Amino acid sequence: MASVISSARFRAAFFIERMNSTADPIWHPALEARHAPLVETLERLLPCMEVPLHLPWIDAILDLKRRRGALIMAHSYQSPEIFHGVADVTGDSLALAQAAAECDSRLIVLCGVHFMAESAKILAPDKTVLIPDPEAGCSLASSITAEDVRALRARHPGLPVVSYVNTSAAVKAESDICCTSANAVQVVEAMAAEFGVDRVIFLPDRYLGAWVAQQTGIDLVLWQGQCEVHETFTAQQARHTREQFDAKIVAHPECPPEVLAEADFVGSTSAMGQWLEKTRPARVALITECSMADNLRNRFPQVEFIKPCNLCPHMKRITLPAIHACLRELKHEVHVPEAVAARARMALERMLAVGRHDKV
Ligand code: 13P
Ligand code: SF4
Repeated sequence: MASVISSARFRAAFFIERMNSTADPIWHPALEARHAPLVETLERLLPCMEVPLHLPWIDAILDLKRRRGALIMAHSYQSPEIFHGVADVTGDSLALAQAAAECDSRLIVLCGVHFMAESAKILAPDKTVLIPDPEAGCSLASSITAEDVRALRARHPGLPVVSYVNTSAAVKAESDICCTSANAVQVVEAMAAEFGVDRVIFLPDRYLGAWVAQQTGIDLVLWQGQCEVHETFTAQQARHTREQFDAKIVAHPECPPEVLAEADFVGSTSAMGQWLEKTRPARVALITECSMADNLRNRFPQVEFIKPCNLCPHMKRITLPAIHACLRELKHEVHVPEAVAARARMALERMLAVGRHDKV
């Protein structure tokens, strides 16, 4: 119910933003024909009356993107009109970081949260990276500072520090290596072996950390950060969904351990897609951000996707009007001081060398 209410709130905000803008692109009949395949896709994923409202923005963004020579990247938690409508590169935080490092474009618009845009800038320092809303934060990233990491190191001398990418550039700069949920297990194992230790500092997500400790058998020093979206799921919700809908339960490792214990599969956002590819269940509940199911629904039309899901208020700050304004005015450029970026880059590049290890 909470996600239905917040979904309505976000949609209302979208329409109010539209009404207040004087530079709104306007719907005209030719748009339907110009974007016919996209209209078909969006009508499968969204209430059909919303599609004509999105189409003028999508058309205007695609035009601006072409003229600016920009590349638009969108995380899997972005709404379908962004994910399917305007993005050139889509995926999890690891895929976006890799794409930023490898792409040819000089201008990247990152539709995701701030730490993702920072990672892109760190890995592609000569490119201009814009974020449509600089206030798009993350409860994990804001749970820890660089000073906290230095204090942890002082308390546990000799232990390697593994930081989830959901951290600020300053925290990455204090870390030995980064990880995402797609490679956290392998990164922790690699660090324990390289440092010759049986304890590793893992931050800031205590739930992801607890899951990694369980998977690896390695003792982790944890930070008490949590994702405000995943921490609210309950084991009772998962059980109820399984029993009422006869659905498979797939959960992100940022969920509390008692939720993960109810899941048929635990994995990163990219691993969720791979698991569906392999398993093809009749019904599934993705215990994660709501747009994940919306975006996967297009790939798996035979699978029925069931709530519960929660909206990430930070991800949902990114809207089509915000992307349009960011591209039109070339605003909200992401800057990372080079002294910080150089050290954070080492931690990120070390992670990229470990690569992706989704286990399905
Ligand atoms: P991924 O690393 O799977 O993209 O997830 C990022 C995130 O913010 C999950 O809440
Ligand atoms: Fe951060 Fe959670 Fe939102 Fe992911 S879903 S960006 S971890 S607040």
